Amino acid sequence: MSSKVIVTIFGASGDLAKRKLYPSLFRLYKSGNLSEHFAVIGTARRPWSKAYFESIIVESIEGLAASQEEAWEFASHFYYQSHDVNDKEHYVELKKLQTELTEKYQTEGNKLFFLSMAPEFFGTIAKHLKSEHIVDGNGFERLIVEKPFGTSLKTASKLNSELVETFDEEQIFRIDHYLGKEMIQNIFAIRFANLIFDQVWNKDFIDNVQITFAESIGVEERGGYYDHSGALKDMIQNHALQLLSILAMDKPESFSKEAIRAEKIKVFQSLVQPSDEELKHNFVRGQYAAGIIDGRDYIAYRDEFNVDPESQTETFAAGTFFVDSERFIGVPFFFRTGKRMTEKGTRVNITFKKMPSIFGEEVAPNILTIYIQPTEGFSLKINGKEVGERFSLAQISYDYRTDATASGASPEPYEKLIFDVLNNDSTNFSHWDEVRASWALIDRIEEAWANNKSPLHSYASGTMGPQAAFDMLAKFNAKWQWEPDNWYRERDLLK
Ligand code: BG6
Repeated sequence: MSSKVIVTIFGASGDLAKRKLYPSLFRLYKSGNLSEHFAVIGTARRPWSKAYFESIIVESIEGLAASQEEAWEFASHFYYQSHDVNDKEHYVELKKLQTELTEKYQTEGNKLFFLSMAPEFFGTIAKHLKSEHIVDGNGFERLIVEKPFGTSLKTASKLNSELVETFDEEQIFRIDHYLGKEMIQNIFAIRFANLIFDQVWNKDFIDNVQITFAESIGVEERGGYYDHSGALKDMIQNHALQLLSILAMDKPESFSKEAIRAEKIKVFQSLVQPSDEELKHNFVRGQYAAGIIDGRDYIAYRDEFNVDPESQTETFAAGTFFVDSERFIGVPFFFRTGKRMTEKGTRVNITFKKMPSIFGEEVAPNILTIYIQPTEGFSLKINGKEVGERFSLAQISYDYRTDATASGASPEPYEKLIFDVLNNDSTNFSHWDEVRASWALIDRIEEAWANNKSPLHSYASGTMGPQAAFDMLAKFNAKWQWEPDNWYRERDLLK
């Protein structure tokens, strides 16, 4: 790996940079994955000085550095340039700074560009990087782009064609921070390193797959963005479909980026386009209303800051996808995501087929749960005999859970992902073919919703979404395996 590099961040004054990027760069620096031969150029419109930028860096890594000295030493690698992305002159200045720092830090021409701003500027930035010879063919040149990658197939295609004017697909790293999460990567181990799962991971043994991304937070200060996006584009187009592709793919020939990508792309290309009827019945949208949880009042989405009081944007989306592959044809992949749900949790439930009853006893299906966050781990529900004279069955749950992120054992997703980019490893990034296929599917659902082909349901804050999302599973003789709101209801904590 070459850790000699100049990282240029567009959007350096933004929230993401402060909360995620600077701490991640610091961890890489501390673990020796970034050597002394690195510098960061932060750009944004605000007229900051280097000294002020350094103080922001020190603030953003508070609690991570062993001493103030170490924090300031790290921050000394940071440079700032006030930048208007449309102004050609600013790129000329940027080129000068880049050349100067390449010399000073002996970075051998290696460059990493991080676009962490509104996607409408991505094309302009890429164009100028080329025309002003900042991208000059010396050293490695890689581009990291934050989500959202477009807002539809059309806008994503336009954006992509602008980027490939300057960078090849191999140089473009489209971030999906879920792919940097430890437990998502653990799925490869669970699936392929266990005989008991490897052999039954198919339509003959699996009844359905459930993917839940629940958030208890509301839309917070992001109303301006979110009200134009909604849950489907914000979470499903990227995170949920990426996760689905890892759950549904065939075993890659090796653990290489090429082999894994090839298998993932096959899944994306086999996603079944829903018919008009299926669009009506297999997808549910909802918006949170006010609610009380644990004695605390929460306001409705439409009353949130920067949200249209008559907004039709969904804050909850659920649906049923099918993958037309030999392995999984006919198996429903249910997903749901929402803001202001009962509690924060991302998990996958694999429900195996039910066995016929034995000795007159009904048999519950085996369920493998993969806990992605906030706790990490897995559990397996199996059937055992209840203690006593009679033969009756009881479900036993084998549970392994850790809070690895809290204990610092798991790298932060951004740390892992930047590390991968430095290693030129694009396994955990979204390939254009994947993004294109996912938009084609999401566009169809969006179009049906925009034309009001199915209702926008309301759900009380603190619940697991509208009733329609439960009814949707009932049609497939299934039920959501994770229902935390029952726990709250039984204790009268939910209104
Ligand atoms: C982001 C979405 O991609 O993922 C946010 O834009 C969402 O709306 C976030 O809150 C969830 O990420 P995590 O890692 O906190 O589960």
